[in-house]
Amino acid sequence: MAANVEIFEGDKVSIYEQLILQIEQICISETNFIANIGNCCAILKSQFDWHWVGCYFIDQKVNNLVLGPFQGPLACTRIAYGKGVCGTAWENNEIVIVPNVHEFPGHIACSAASNSEIVLPMYDVNNTIIGVFDIDSIAFDAFDAIDAKYLSKMLQIITNATV
Ligand code: SME
Repeated sequence: MAANVEIFEGDKVSIYEQLILQIEQICISETNFIANIGNCCAILKSQFDWHWVGCYFIDQKVNNLVLGPFQGPLACTRIAYGKGVCGTAWENNEIVIVPNVHEFPGHIACSAASNSEIVLPMYDVNNTIIGVFDIDSIAFDAFDAIDAKYLSKMLQIITNATV
């Protein structure tokens, strides 16, 4: 398939609807989770110009998160269980939206430019958590329930494609 990155227009919901269609297409021709999540990072970074878009995978051996595919500046490679926004999303197995990271206890500042953040758990086909998907914005209060809904949908499509 063509590797062009298409930039969609419209309100946030219609942009996400178009992105979801594109991600479904990408996941028809590729089953590998790393490949698909890597392309999703590229697509989201191009579309929304967020500061950092990427993921961390659970490293069971040492009970921490290790950096996976991402787009954006240099990032922390390891995050401990329960630490920062990513470690909290993992510990609580839930989506965390932080309007102002400077007010989040224990926030890990990989980049001083980040001001708000959303982190979503990533699951395998058995619904076991395998890591987290993290997006950082320079804007305050950049993420809401619409982002949570469509980013969850995106992760579900990637997970389903692996079977
Ligand atoms: N801000 C995150 C750390 C990861 S990076 O920002 C890429 C956190 O507190 O979990």
